[in-house]
Amino acid sequence: MASPVKVCVTGAAGQIGYSLVYMIGSGAVFGPNTPVSLHLLDIPPMMGALEGVCMEIADCALPCVRDVVPTADPAVAFNDIDAAFLVGAMPRKEGMERKDLLAANVKIFKVQGEALDKYAKKSVKVLVVGNPANTNALICSQYAPTIPKENFSAMTRLDQNRAQAQIAARLGVPVAEVKNCIIWGNHSSTQFPDVRHATVNGKPVYEAVNDDAWLMGDFISTVQKRGGAVIAARKLSSAMSAAKAACDHMSSWWNGTPDGQFVSMGVFSDGSYDTAPGVMFSFPVHIKDRKWSIVQGLPIDDFAKGKLEATGKELCEERDDAMSVCAAAQ
Ligand code: NAI
Repeated sequence: MASPVKVCVTGAAGQIGYSLVYMIGSGAVFGPNTPVSLHLLDIPPMMGALEGVCMEIADCALPCVRDVVPTADPAVAFNDIDAAFLVGAMPRKEGMERKDLLAANVKIFKVQGEALDKYAKKSVKVLVVGNPANTNALICSQYAPTIPKENFSAMTRLDQNRAQAQIAARLGVPVAEVKNCIIWGNHSSTQFPDVRHATVNGKPVYEAVNDDAWLMGDFISTVQKRGGAVIAARKLSSAMSAAKAACDHMSSWWNGTPDGQFVSMGVFSDGSYDTAPGVMFSFPVHIKDRKWSIVQGLPIDDFAKGKLEATGKELCEERDDAMSVCAAAQ
């Protein structure tokens, strides 16, 4: 058997971690015949709960799981890893402003960037899930200067999956028949879920749905606000679907995208589609040989242009706020 892929999951004792470690261990990401070594990081007060997660992983008797390393030490968690799911972050508490949350979490991702730089393989693929995901990914990369920038990404796949599911439900078709939904920009309420280039069974979604007002109105706001709707119903934030999306994201990165299809991920902008270079912007990407490239040349109408500008503006503001937090912490 091949040598194991070393995978780190941070926040492994949390909600998303609970579903995610099972999915990775089941072979859903790196392949059913690829062994994995799971490095599970959480904070010291969570070591008891993490031990329970380890007991359950053992009890799942997963053939792919070669070994499990629970730890509160980033030096151990990131040692020689091939892939990182950075889920661990401080949750938003009641009365907390978005800015306070950003300040708390940006510091975590600064420290983890430094630790990745020191201990991980230079080829490590890093997926940031913890919010604000796009800006956390940017900061993490900034503090890991010896790891290529292209190896950092932020998760908008849950939003893509939500968009795909909404279209499938509206048309009464299996979800797999809907392809090429795009999420542009930030994983926040300014994101732009765009199905102008999507198809259902090869037919343009706009033609199949035949209701432009819905596609440009309620469809977009439903996807943007879906996280809040799940919280209202479950009294807890999305976890199973977030873990599934994290697996989809890493699986696409590891195994590539099929010809003619693309997926959305937050990656460093090179200025494509008039976005601000350097922010972690969600784009449609093709992936081959574990390298992503932004899909070029998609026509952008005035409606889309306005949406891209709004979400890009928010990302620039977040970046500036995050940079001042980091500068103050020096
Ligand atoms: P949770 O609160 O259940 O779990 C978070 C875990 O992270 C906890 O076990 C906590 O102890 C741990 N943690 C905190 N600081 C840490 C640190 N410095 N190092 C390692 N572990 C640390 O939260 P949940 O529901 O699992 O969500 C995690 C994050 O994912 C949140 O920031 C949430 O907003 C975000 N999220 C992102 C989504 C996306 O689409 N990008 C979707 C859903 C959630």
